[in-house]
Amino acid sequence: MNSDELISRYCSSMPTKRRERFIKHSKNVLRKSLNIAREHTEFRININKLTDMALLHDIGVCQLTKETPYIKHGIIGKKILEKEGYKNIAKVCERHIGSGITKKEARLLGLPPKDMLPRTIEEKIVCYADKFYSKSKDKVHTVTEIKNEFTKYGEDELKRFEKLHKLFL
Ligand SMILES: [Fe+2]
Repeated sequence: MNSDELISRYCSSMPTKRRERFIKHSKNVLRKSLNIAREHTEFRININKLTDMALLHDIGVCQLTKETPYIKHGIIGKKILEKEGYKNIAKVCERHIGSGITKKEARLLGLPPKDMLPRTIEEKIVCYADKFYSKSKDKVHTVTEIKNEFTKYGEDELKRFEKLHKLFL
């Protein structure tokens, strides 16, 4: 099953507007991810992997119920991708949230207590590119806006974002 088929299968029951916003967001993240890859030939980037990751990193959003906290879309998405034969990219669902989540933060957030930081170059690109595009507003965030947002969550999260920003400047 390719990424389009997977999205149709898991996201068809979503209200139309939300589904359209989700698809638009994923395509924006893909475009930015590919631009970063193009500009950073110093890294060995697997473009096919990066493309699937960008398109599917938020697939867990499609299966969220009203009762499920939004932050759980990461672990839901990982389960979907593992089940559907995308084990090689599944971790991006958990690892793209914020600037990644440490085990300690995961515990505080009510998530499984494990390290969910982006590790591979493709995961780092998708995590970074994701921060520029909201799913609720038709707006591209500036780096300053993203940094201001991270300030609310704490010094460590902000530092991790700045590290990604330096990498992909
Ligand atoms: Fe996203």
